[in-house]
Amino acid sequence: MDKLKIRGGRPLHGDIAISGAKNAALPEMCAALLTAEPVHLVNVPRLHDVRTMRRLLDHMGVTTQTHGERGGMSFVAPDTLSPEASYELVKTMRASVLVLGPLLARFGRARVSLPGGCAIGARPVDQHIKGLQAMGAEVRVEHGYVHATVPRLKGARLFTDMVTVTGTENLMMAAALADGETVIENAAREPEVVDLANCLVAMGAQISGAGSDVIRIRGVERLHGATHRIMPDRIETGTYLCAAAVTGGAVRLTGTSSCYLDAVIDKLMDAGCEVVSERDAIRLSAPARLNAVSLRTSPYPAFPTDMQAQFMAINCVANGVAMIRETIFENRFMHAVELQRLGADIRIDGNTAVVQGVAKLEGATVMATDLRASASLVVAGLVAEGETVIERIYHLDRGYERLEAKLAALGAKVRRLA
Ligand code: EPZ
Repeated sequence: MDKLKIRGGRPLHGDIAISGAKNAALPEMCAALLTAEPVHLVNVPRLHDVRTMRRLLDHMGVTTQTHGERGGMSFVAPDTLSPEASYELVKTMRASVLVLGPLLARFGRARVSLPGGCAIGARPVDQHIKGLQAMGAEVRVEHGYVHATVPRLKGARLFTDMVTVTGTENLMMAAALADGETVIENAAREPEVVDLANCLVAMGAQISGAGSDVIRIRGVERLHGATHRIMPDRIETGTYLCAAAVTGGAVRLTGTSSCYLDAVIDKLMDAGCEVVSERDAIRLSAPARLNAVSLRTSPYPAFPTDMQAQFMAINCVANGVAMIRETIFENRFMHAVELQRLGADIRIDGNTAVVQGVAKLEGATVMATDLRASASLVVAGLVAEGETVIERIYHLDRGYERLEAKLAALGAKVRRLA
C-alpha cells in the first residue's frame, strides 16, 4: 500500500495551478442523469473519487468519454439506463447517494445502496429521503437499499433539519424535473451548490437563490445537454495555502479565487500571513513563525470543516494556544493522535481541541484515516524535522490531484513509496 515520504523543513516557493473542485465535479456528473443529451464537463479533476463516480455511471449504462488532458469528460445517459447503484460501488464513496434524486426525477424509480457511515461520522441521509417523500415519492429502506418510486415528483416546500450540502444538491436536482415549484429552506450555501445550480441552469433548469439559504426551483418537462466548466477546488487551494504558511514560504496559486475562501484567508491573515488576491490567483507569503488561531467550523460562509485538520496542523507549531471546535461531524479529530506522534501538544475534549504550539515537530511514521486528515499530516510533515512517512495515502488520492508533483514544484522533498 502506497506511502508518502516527506523530508520537512523547506519553505515552499513558486507557482502551481489548482484543479477543478471534487465536491462540484461529483454532483455535476450525477446531473448528467437528468437528460438523454450529452453533458460536457470541463476542468474535471483526475481523482480517485471521480473515477469511482464514472464507474458507477458506466455500470448504470451511461456512456462516458474523456477528451484529452484538460478536455474534460462527456456523459450520455440513455432512456434505457438501469436506475440502480450497488453497495459494491456506493460503499467506497458516500457521494454516490447523489444519483438518487436525478434517477428518481428522470426515471420515476431508483434503487440505491445506503452509503453507511465513515471515519468522520455516522452521516445519515434521512434529510435526502425526507425531502423526496415530501415531493411525493414512495421511499422504503430495505436490506441496506433505498427503494424509491413516483409517477412524477411534485414541487413542494422543503425544510432540512440541518444544513446539508449533498442533501441540498440531491433535492435541487430532483426538483429540476418536478411538476411545479420547489422551495428548499435552510439550504446549504456552499460554492459547490452554486456551481451545480449553474450547471443545471445551463441544462435548462429554472433555479433562483442558489448561494442563499432559500433556493427556488421551477420544474420543467425535460432538460437538455450543456457544457459546463467546474469551479476551482477551494479546499485544495486552502490546503496549499496552509502548506506554504507553515513552512514560512511564499507561493502563488493560479486558476483559483479568494472569493470562496474568505473565512480561511481571514484566519491565515490573523496567523500573520500576507495574502493578495488576483483576478484568477492567490498569493501568500508567510512569516518565520505563525500566530496561533482559534476557529469553529460551521456551514458556508463560515469556516469549513474540510479545512479544520489542516489548521490543526499549522497551529501545532504556531506561537500560542489555539482552540478548535468541530460542529459539523462528530468524529473529525482522528488526525490529532497522529499529529501527537510528530510531537504535537493537543488535548481533545468532546468536539473541542486545544492545541499548544511547540517549537518543532519531529518526523515519524503516521497513518492517514480520511481525506482531510491525510492532508493535515502532509502539512505537518512539510515542517517537521527529518522524515515523515504517511501510510494509507490512498485517502489523499481521493481528493488531491498530482499532490507530489505540485509539492515538488514548490520545492518540497516528497516521494511516493510503493
Ligand atoms: C459534503 O458532505 C462534502 N462532501 C464534505 O466533504 C463536507 O465535509 C460536508 O459537505 C460539509 O461541508 C461532498 O460534497 C461530496 P452534510 P455531506 O450533509 O453533504 C448531517 C471532503 O473532505 N446530516 O452537509 O455528506 C451529517 O451527518 C468531504 O471533501 C444528517 O444528519 O455533508 C453532518 O453531521 C468530507 N442527515 C451534517 O449533517 C442528512 O440527511 C452536515 O453534513 C444529511 C446530513
